[in-house]
Amino acid sequence: MTKKIVTLAGDGIGPEIMSAGLEVLAALAPKIDFDYEIDPKNFGGAAIDADGHPLPETTLNAAKNADAILLAAIGGPQYNDAPVRPEQGLLSLRKALGLFANIRPVQIFDALKHLSPLKPEIIDGVDFVVVRELTGGIYFGEHTLNERTARDVNDYSYEEIERIIKVAFEIAEKRGKKVTSVDKQNVLATSKLWRIVAEDVAKSYPHVALEHALVDSLAMKMITNPSDFDVIVTENLFGDILSDESSVLPGTLGVMPSASHAANGPSLYEPIHGSAPDIAGLGIANPISMILSVAMMLRESFGETIGAQYIENAVNKTLLDGILTKDLGGKASLKEMTAAIISNL
Ligand code: NAD
Ligand code: IPM
Ligand code: MN
Repeated sequence: MTKKIVTLAGDGIGPEIMSAGLEVLAALAPKIDFDYEIDPKNFGGAAIDADGHPLPETTLNAAKNADAILLAAIGGPQYNDAPVRPEQGLLSLRKALGLFANIRPVQIFDALKHLSPLKPEIIDGVDFVVVRELTGGIYFGEHTLNERTARDVNDYSYEEIERIIKVAFEIAEKRGKKVTSVDKQNVLATSKLWRIVAEDVAKSYPHVALEHALVDSLAMKMITNPSDFDVIVTENLFGDILSDESSVLPGTLGVMPSASHAANGPSLYEPIHGSAPDIAGLGIANPISMILSVAMMLRESFGETIGAQYIENAVNKTLLDGILTKDLGGKASLKEMTAAIISNL
């Protein structure tokens, strides 16, 4: 049956990398007999320009009825004072679709090992997943900005924590059988509850080891001992920060994909980075984050394991061939890199 994929290209480098991702999908589809249709919708700043709101009704409805959603990136300085910012549209979309489980894999292609700013012996064997809670916590608590005071509320319920910890254990069970639960339990009440729930959930997974880490020291260990980790699970804000930090391991945000899943309904796939206004329109953005998000979509929404593998192999081969964009120290344009990946499919 034809799969309906809603695409949200958004802002900045968003449209450039989305085109790259869709070109790769179009080239791959006949090879794996994958039948799909693309339904592009306005989102983010582009939707503010077109419709006056970052998440128009038509976009939300299409997303709800899709088989999967691809999102590139939103935001930009020109929208910082918009009545509703692009970022708010993204948060509303995640909330409306119930996308509580954000999966951000960190693996370093062989070809990138020598490009990492870290020593090869530190990078060796790095392969972990950040599982970020995506629809709760301080992002969705009340925000109050007064002239001389401000307040952001961080709320978590037992159930919200339980379902994301379970996702982490389910993933760990199929991988390295270790969960590192990250919190700030020495200070925060939400973190104290987080730790209790993690211990409770762990009882149902006797084959998976659970360790706890405080977020500050974990931020350090992610760089000094990154190969120690298998599945890292944490709340919304910590997961945002730690996943950007993890991009230091491969050396660029430009290769980092993600998947966001709900209890029911379509999943959404997007790079972890933003709209990169500093390089938008220059044709030099790294499309790999988007292309690998397409691979994650094929595997996780459509069970197209082989197709996903074809894409990942083609990306690795392209990097091994030395086709590198500027963020990786190379000179290839987005179009050159995309063409090379397609020819390696
Ligand atoms: P950013 O992630 O857009 O960029 C950070 C740095 O990484 C920049 O130097 C950028 O050039 C580089 N970079 C990011 N993606 C790249 C790629 N594919 N290829 C090469 N280089 C890449 O973060 P920022 O500049 O702090 O934020 C810009 C805007 O994006 C803000 O409005 C922010 O709110 C928004 N944002 C959106 C998302 C999203 O759409 N999911 C995620 C993060 C930030
Ligand atoms: C991300 C982004 C978003 C977040 C912003 C744009 C709201 O940084 O997807 O990581 O903080 O979740
Ligand atoms: Mn982020």
